[in-house]
Amino acid sequence: MPAPPHGTSRAAPRRGPREALPPEAYEAWYHTARGRWIAAREFALCASMLEPWPGASLLDVGTGTGHFARLFAGQGLRVTGLDPDRRAIAFAGAQGGNIRYLAADARRLPFADQRFDYAAAITSLCFVPDPAQALAEMWRVAERGVLLGLLHRHSLLYRQKRGQGAYAGARWDDLEAVRTWTAALAPAPRLTHGYAVGWPAGGLAARLAEPLLARLLPWGAFLAVVLWKQPRR
Ligand SMILES: C[S@@+](CC[C@H](N)C(=O)[O-])C[C@H]1O[C@@H](n2cnc3c(N)ncnc32)[C@H](O)[C@@H]1O
Repeated sequence: MPAPPHGTSRAAPRRGPREALPPEAYEAWYHTARGRWIAAREFALCASMLEPWPGASLLDVGTGTGHFARLFAGQGLRVTGLDPDRRAIAFAGAQGGNIRYLAADARRLPFADQRFDYAAAITSLCFVPDPAQALAEMWRVAERGVLLGLLHRHSLLYRQKRGQGAYAGARWDDLEAVRTWTAALAPAPRLTHGYAVGWPAGGLAARLAEPLLARLLPWGAFLAVVLWKQPRR
């Protein structure tokens, strides 16, 4: 699987676009102080935008090690995690958490229409070459809405790290790109969006500034977009 979306240190070895990283190493980044903080900010934003009710079903597309799948399951959701990387799926399954995992591709989801309340893709669509096709599939299998967590092109992180190391294979998107992908969706979605990780350093100053930056400045490294098919319950 690709390297953690927000990278490790400047000394990290350069990796090709889809070069495999052992899931153990990927998950270990989430247990560093910076990785923990970034994941917490991203998840808090996603959860506050989606406001899922306990018992809702969610398909986590590009689940990787299942880190976000476990966070969603921890909120009482019934989660299915999907990823083409079988090593990552095996690792995710071994972490427990009452989550069903399967190996599949976002562009051909093996599910019936509206099988889930929600479909989510957290920093995974940026590795899919045809995001509009993947989004159309997510839209098809979701009854209520689709959550996208994207690497944001208009961010400090993009200026610092684009094309480097772990980011070499990632596409950096923006709200306009998402609007383009949604053009063919029916029914037409209503979009809400938000930003997190305004100052990607993750140190004390970044943590103190984050609430203000995320609210006032549209330059967070993590762009979350919800495409609503039906209003919230
Ligand atoms: C940066 S990881 C994100 C993993 C997880 N969502 C997270 O945030 O920790 C990107 C994931 O996208 C997956 N991916 C790449 N191409 C994909 C595709 N065509 N369909 C579904 N997932 C894909 C990769 O295997 C990888 O696990």
